[in-house]
Amino acid sequence: MLKYHLKMDIKKVFDSYDEELRLVEAKLREIFKSDVVFIPLIGRYLLEGGGKRIRPLFLLTSARLLGYKGDGHITLAGVIECIHTASLLHDDVVDGAELRRGQPAAHSLWGNQVVILVGDYLYSNALRTAVSLNSHKIMEAVSGATTRMTEGEIFQLEKSGDIKMTEEEYLRIISAKTAGLISAACRMAAALAGRPPEDEEALAAFGLKSGMAFQMADDILDYMAEEEGLGKKLGKDLDEGKITLPLIYLLSSASKDEKEEIGSIIDNGLSNEGLKRMLGLFEKYSVLEESMKKAEKLISEAKEELMIFSPSHEREEMFALADYALQRDK
Ligand code: IPE
Ligand code: IPE
Ligand code: MG
Ligand code: MG
Repeated sequence: MLKYHLKMDIKKVFDSYDEELRLVEAKLREIFKSDVVFIPLIGRYLLEGGGKRIRPLFLLTSARLLGYKGDGHITLAGVIECIHTASLLHDDVVDGAELRRGQPAAHSLWGNQVVILVGDYLYSNALRTAVSLNSHKIMEAVSGATTRMTEGEIFQLEKSGDIKMTEEEYLRIISAKTAGLISAACRMAAALAGRPPEDEEALAAFGLKSGMAFQMADDILDYMAEEEGLGKKLGKDLDEGKITLPLIYLLSSASKDEKEEIGSIIDNGLSNEGLKRMLGLFEKYSVLEESMKKAEKLISEAKEELMIFSPSHEREEMFALADYALQRDK
């Protein structure tokens, strides 16, 4: 279901940013540099772990769309990816997730203590790196997004296992924990290029909507993808007590008895039978399709935001990136 034909091949988009993405990797290595061996050691493990680098690409494509000519976008793309990396380090501890990108999560190799501290180091060093750009607007965007991200993670924890969670609360969580950082990535390109507020807001809205759809796709994939493809465990969200869009839709359609059953599956910890039963109910009420439709709508609204910019190859690349946020298979 997640594979359609794309107008512009996303691989071509990644290829056309190859040189800049390499510079972003170098910037990341620089942020991970320290005489304290754990930092570059865990850093290398993370950098070689094969993340998609989708957040840097949101920033780089936005900068190219605006014809930005400096090198601040490389620094900021490194900063954004570093913040993302730090969030994953902490997130896997919080979620008790054993796998990340198909490999043992860092905390399963080095333990929680050092991994949490390396995460702290990455957050603060990323923000310190952003300071070097001497822009109040950029600092506001990057530190605001980081604050909201943590807030989103905490709010999600507060709502853990709560089957009364609403769609609105879910949207609040994903905007904060995921979409805010992608939105900030796009917004910062406008700030770097010295663009007027309309351009900045359009890019920020594009990032926010694409980012929300990106997290929705992640939450849908959680119930679809096999372990090898996704590099995470099938049904992991439910196991973690995380209530996501497919489950919210299911709970709104299920009968009273089914709702009780779902409640007890969640309360008792997810077994193989429990997961099978849930997937059966998902099928019965077509909730993955319904969730996908919601995400598709967000992607078309995201693209709409870019209509204030003239048609160009760069704009097409951004459309392809938005499509990829939804149609990726990992
Ligand atoms: C994982 O993000 C966490 C979410 C917000 C869904 P990505 O899917 O971008 O992870 P990597 O960096 O490519 O592994
Ligand atoms: C990822 O969230 C972390 C942040 C967005 C801060 P999730 O817990 O939903 O993502 P995965 O499934 O572990 O990648
Ligand atoms: Mg997680
Ligand atoms: Mg999480």
